[in-house]
Amino acid sequence: MSGNTDLDECLQAALNIARKAGKIAREASFSIMKVETKASSADLVTETDKQVEELILSELKQKFPSHKFIGEECTAAGEDCQLTNDPTWMVDPIDGTSNFVHGIPFSAVSIGLAVDKTPVVGVVYNFSLDQMFAARKGGGATMNGAPIHVSKCTELTESLLLSEFGSNRPPELLKPKVDCLYELAVEPRPVHGIRMVGSAALSMCMVASGSADAYFEYGIHCWDIAAGDVIVREAGGVTMFPTGDPLDVMRRGVLCAGTQELAAKLAPHIPKLEYERD
Ligand code: IPD
Ligand code: CA
Repeated sequence: MSGNTDLDECLQAALNIARKAGKIAREASFSIMKVETKASSADLVTETDKQVEELILSELKQKFPSHKFIGEECTAAGEDCQLTNDPTWMVDPIDGTSNFVHGIPFSAVSIGLAVDKTPVVGVVYNFSLDQMFAARKGGGATMNGAPIHVSKCTELTESLLLSEFGSNRPPELLKPKVDCLYELAVEPRPVHGIRMVGSAALSMCMVASGSADAYFEYGIHCWDIAAGDVIVREAGGVTMFPTGDPLDVMRRGVLCAGTQELAAKLAPHIPKLEYERD
């Protein structure tokens, strides 16, 4: 329980709905898509994003009528995006829409529930690979039902990192991101590698399951990271704002890592950027 919220019931509902939504997205991934752009030519949306979000929100609202809801596509259409202390679901119907559009099987349905502004339940479903990541506060994190754990890496020179440019790329925001990746990759003390996998939620699940050691990004939204936040923490990892401040899901930035030591070594390399809050 978290307050009056039965987290097991919420997790079970999120799992069922994510599976149903993922089936629709997987089937749509084999057909021709109508692609539109939102804030920039790199910010994509398809009919399936909208259809899947509608399904997820209507099922959640029916099951939890007293809760609050934030959805990526509703927000893009002008609906309020406000986080209070009330139980609030944060939904990204397809995280990794660019991968989805280009036929790369690495996108996910992401459903998170925050109570008192902190994520307590998270489900991230890679519908192409049929990988269901899940966690609830205090219950550990799983992938397809089996426990997952972060890596124990504490050294940048032994780390595999994930990051992204994000979909909004004005030069004053993109340049410091590129410079930061250069600094981390360049000899004499380079990291093992830096990957851009195209989905914030799945990046966090890669950290949670130990295939990546840390992930950081500015410009993401609450629906991209709410579920991933609880999954990483329940897998034994740490999450924060990229400067090292406590994570605030509305602040448009995230750094997560398998260990606090690695996060502390990485944070000073990341530029200090501030985006407009969600
Ligand atoms: C995007 C993905 C991408 C990240 C962007 C997100 P979307 O979400 O997570 O990896 O770099 O910042 O907006 O648009 O595919 O839901
Ligand atoms: Ca999305």
